[in-house]
Formats: sequence, C-alpha cells, structure tokens
Amino acid sequence: MSIGNNRIYLDDVDLLELAEELGTPLYVFSESRLREVTNNLMELSRRYLPNSRIYYALKANSNLSILNILRSMGVGAEVVSCGELYKALLAGYGPEDIIFNGPGKGVEAIEFAIKTGINCINIDSEYEYDLIEKLAISYGLKPRVALRIVPEVEAQVIKTGLSWTKFGLEIDRAIELGKKALSSPFIDLVGIHSHLGSQITDLYTWVEAMKKIFGLLNELNSLGISIEHINLGGGLPIDYTLSPIELDIDVPDRFKPVFNEELFFKTLGNMVKEYGLEKMSIFFEFGRRIIADSGILLTRVINIKKRVDGEKWIILDAGFNLLLSSVLYKWYYPLINITKISEPHNHPFRVGGPLCDTDDAFHDIPGEEDNSPQLPKYRPLPKDTGVGDKMMFMHVGAYSFEESSTYNSFPRPPIVLISVDGDIKVIRRGETLFDLVSKEVL
Ligand SMILES: Cc1ncc(COP(=O)(O)O)c(C=O)c1O
Repeated sequence: MSIGNNRIYLDDVDLLELAEELGTPLYVFSESRLREVTNNLMELSRRYLPNSRIYYALKANSNLSILNILRSMGVGAEVVSCGELYKALLAGYGPEDIIFNGPGKGVEAIEFAIKTGINCINIDSEYEYDLIEKLAISYGLKPRVALRIVPEVEAQVIKTGLSWTKFGLEIDRAIELGKKALSSPFIDLVGIHSHLGSQITDLYTWVEAMKKIFGLLNELNSLGISIEHINLGGGLPIDYTLSPIELDIDVPDRFKPVFNEELFFKTLGNMVKEYGLEKMSIFFEFGRRIIADSGILLTRVINIKKRVDGEKWIILDAGFNLLLSSVLYKWYYPLINITKISEPHNHPFRVGGPLCDTDDAFHDIPGEEDNSPQLPKYRPLPKDTGVGDKMMFMHVGAYSFEESSTYNSFPRPPIVLISVDGDIKVIRRGETLFDLVSKEVL
C-alpha cells in the first residue's frame, strides 16, 4: 500500500476511486501480496526443510481464482468437506495434491475422497477409521491415511491440539489404530497429523508438539509401522496491527505476535536433523498466514450519531455478516478512513455494523470491557468522519468471506482481485436481492 495526494493505493489502484466505482461493501484482494507471502513461505520451508510441502487450508478462503493462483505456484490443497474437495478439483488440483481433514467429514465426502484417490485422509476418530476401512473394502481400494493426534499442547489463541477439544485422537488411541492398520490390507497408514490452533504466537508450541510426534513415531517404529510424513497443520500468525498510517490504539498481544518465520522453519529443520529424520516429508497446512493480509474490506459510513454524553458512533455498511470473527473471536481488524486518509486518526469513535444486534460492533461492548478487555474500547478516526466516508478494514483475507452470511438479508458483496498486471478482476459476483429469495418457496 502507498499513500500520495491524499489518496491510498493498493498495488497502484486508488482505493477511494474503486469504492466509488464498484460501491461498498467490497472485498479486495492483491495477487502480488498473495504471491509474495506464499513465495516467501515456500522459499523458507525449502531452505530449512528440503523435504517439506505447503498445503493451503481452503477454509481460509476457497475462491476458485485464489486456488488457481496457489495451485499454479505449487501449493497443495487441504480440504475439510465434500464442497472443498470439489472446489479443489475444479481449480485443477490433482488428487495427489489434496489432503482431507475434519472432525465431521461424513460418509459421502469420505467415499468421494477414497474414490478420487487423494493424497491422504486424516483420520479423526476410531469410528472414522472403521468407516474408511469399510468403504475401502467395498471399493477394493487402499486409501492413504494419517492419524490426527491431539498432542496435548496448548496454543495461545485458538486451540485445537488438546483432548478437551473435539479434534483428533489421544496418542494411545493413535497407537492402537496404528496396530490395526498394520494388519489391514485396505488401509495405507502414511502419516501423523497434528493441528494445534490458529494465530499461534509462540514458536515453542510447535516444538513441544514435534517432540510428542517424534515420541509417537518411535513407538510406531518399534511396532514395525513406518511413517512417510508428519503434518504439522496450520497456525502461523500474522500481525494484525500493521497499518499504512499510525493508529494510536491499544490492541491485545495476540494480534501483534513477535514471530520470526525464518526461525520457525530453521528450528523445525534442526529438530528433524537432530532426530535423524531428514528423509521424512513434512507437511504444513497454512491458511491465515497465506491469505489474511492480501485482503481488505471497503465499507462506508451510512449513519452517525452523537450521544448526550458526547460519545460518537458511526455505523458502517459492513458488520459481522461480513467479518464474523469480529464477534466470534473478538477479532481486531485495523480500520482506516480512506476518504480522509491524510487526516490524523486520533479521535475516539464507537463503530458498529448495520445489523440489528448489539454485538455488531468493532470494539468491546460497553460493560464488557472492564472485566475482560479483548478489543480496544474505541476506534481512532479523523475528527470529522461522517456519513459517506469510505473506510477500509485491513487483513480480512482469511476466514471473512468464507464465514460471511446474508443475515438481516444483506446480500453478499462482490470480491475483486487486483492482478499482478494491474487488472481489476471480479472473482466473485455480488449477490442480488433475487439471490436472497431464489431458493425459497412461497
Ligand atoms: C486442520 C486444519 N489445518 C489447517 C488450518 C489452517 O489454520 P491457519 O489458518 O491458522 O493456518 C486449520 C484451521 O482451522 C485446520 O483446522
């Protein structure tokens, strides 16, 4: 992003002009940024873990154009449903480039994955093991599978690697399934999988999980079970406080990790060497880190009010219908007034979306903040921010469109991509009022 002549540009595209021409709300993605981040991750992983592969977690953003770019760069696909598997195949991924996770895949999806012959199905329970084996027998196939374990390692923000969550298998259970697989002609056990959470801000979370996985590998080896790959899941964090202008705002630590990606790959590379596992393939399934800071959401002020106590509110045309994590996880996305980009953003505003819900607000709800502050109390904006001003939420590329809804019957907006050659491509058309009712029966 760059700023000049009172305008802000993303890859040389004037964002105010874009918002005026295409309207708001509008999701905008930068292909250059997506490629830059992905290339950097691929380069680092190759340098320190030559036997590694990065898969992209479609759940972060499964738009076909995004998938097409990532596929062309050599990134694999991690899917969690029949729909995501279908989209990955449609985007041109070969079955060998796809791995399948999820705590509730369902029979149809598992059948689809077995028949397609994908690279790996990550087994989430004993029940799922039996189901996969039964289906494999009925098709006379031998699917490649991994065991998803919960290593009992606690991530800092979103946690999935513990047995109190709904995910995966305890290590003892995984060993039992390993023994079963050893004698099964219909199960090809090739991997161990563990996904610890999202926005993991401490490198040692992975180190601890790696040690548990190495312990499990030893146990499996001693039983005569050899494993081809370790999948360490996703979870790399991004710095949600980065902004092209200064925003004087107090944001919880989980949004501004001090995280060194090179050290991450280097540390894991050293561990792999130390344990003599250089031949082992290492998989990652990154979502947030790949796509989050390639996307912004353009929005607009549509209402304003001043309370008798002087508190100022602005209402935007985007709420948790378009940024669900803002309420689901109290997620922070920097907010900038792009109409008044050159004015100091130093005046405290309460900011709400258009939905008829108290929680549809981009700050802690009054009364809540004193006990457990999770978000800043106010958003700093130019003093004279008013109706019609165009605004930008930053770093919304992951888990935003995917989690969006038509709640309150607001149709979903379009998504545009600024391509590397500067073209503005609509990669998803906006929904119309007709789309809202087209599946309903009167
Ligand atoms: C199994 C699995 N892998 C990968 C990811 C991607 O995580 P992240 O977006 O934090 O990289 C997720 C996200 O929840 C997941 O559930």
